[in-house]
Amino acid sequence: MARADCPTCGGSGWKVVERTTAGAQALSTDKPGSAAQGEPKLVWAVPCDCTAGDRTERLLAKARVPDRYRHCDFDNFETDNEIESVPRAQQEAWNRSLAQAKLVVERFAAEFPVGSEHGLLLMGPCGAGKTHLAVAALKGIVLRGHSGLFYDYRELLKEIQDSYNAESQATEMSVLEPVLKAEILVLDDLGSSKPSLWALETVGHILNTRYNEKRVTLLTTNYLDAEAAGNPASVPSPRVAGMRAPSIEDSLTGRGGKRIRSRLYEMCRTVLITAPDYRKEIRNISRSRA
Ligand SMILES: Nc1ncnc2c1ncn2[C@@H]1O[C@H](COP(=O)(O)OP(=O)(O)OP(=O)(O)O)[C@@H](O)[C@H]1O
Ligand SMILES: [Mg+2]
Ligand SMILES: [Zn+2]
Repeated sequence: MARADCPTCGGSGWKVVERTTAGAQALSTDKPGSAAQGEPKLVWAVPCDCTAGDRTERLLAKARVPDRYRHCDFDNFETDNEIESVPRAQQEAWNRSLAQAKLVVERFAAEFPVGSEHGLLLMGPCGAGKTHLAVAALKGIVLRGHSGLFYDYRELLKEIQDSYNAESQATEMSVLEPVLKAEILVLDDLGSSKPSLWALETVGHILNTRYNEKRVTLLTTNYLDAEAAGNPASVPSPRVAGMRAPSIEDSLTGRGGKRIRSRLYEMCRTVLITAPDYRKEIRNISRSRA
């Protein structure tokens, strides 16, 4: 919605701009460098800046970003957290891991679509900020005009499964097509349920198709690769509850699972976040300080 008292558009939500070969300029500006007299001009209406908030909301809704993650940005991703009673060296290591992950994901989003990465796989324990960073990247990319889609892994499988139901309005293709075609897909919480053979085949098909068509996929998972799972130093201490660290090798087993794993490693740069559960540990502190 336009702002009723907007001085630029008077509440209509549209402003008129003119374009010469030099690009678009607002008609009302009389500054040097605005369209020269006598030069052919194109005049047309574009959405006023006061509607930008709507545009963001619209684009996030279209990309299916859940409400609870819409606030997620790089700017509000904190990398200087402090938990009382945690040794300083440990705290600093967690913060370095957060800062490093933020750097990689932010650069990935800024370079999209020309970056070298076909995908990113964000790994780490519950509440470490994986979905936050994935949404921040997706937001930046769709706001620049690219098509993007957010899907929780379980939700996606459920929608596809529901589409087989005779009474369903959706067809398998109507669910799958946008997932296969979006310029960027965020697949959140991969492996969050025990995968059936069908689930593995479906995910394998999605990843393969996107990879073959050179589309970019950003995945998050609680599972760790073998190296990280086998290295106790890489995951937060036992006092940080709610984490499970089985390896991706143990969870994506069988023929279908193996194929997905090798595809994931081939197409993705992996980013391991080692930090405690922000929801539990950090929020509590800010509440108790307030
Ligand atoms: N470093 C951070 N700075 C600010 N907010 C954070 C940070 N890390 C996490 N959060 C917030 O904490 C909540 C949990 O983070 P998020 O959902 O991204 O974790 P996750 O790693 O995806 O966890 P899960 O494995 O449970 O899906 C979110 O609301 C997120 O915005
Ligand atoms: Mg998550
Ligand atoms: Zn306006």
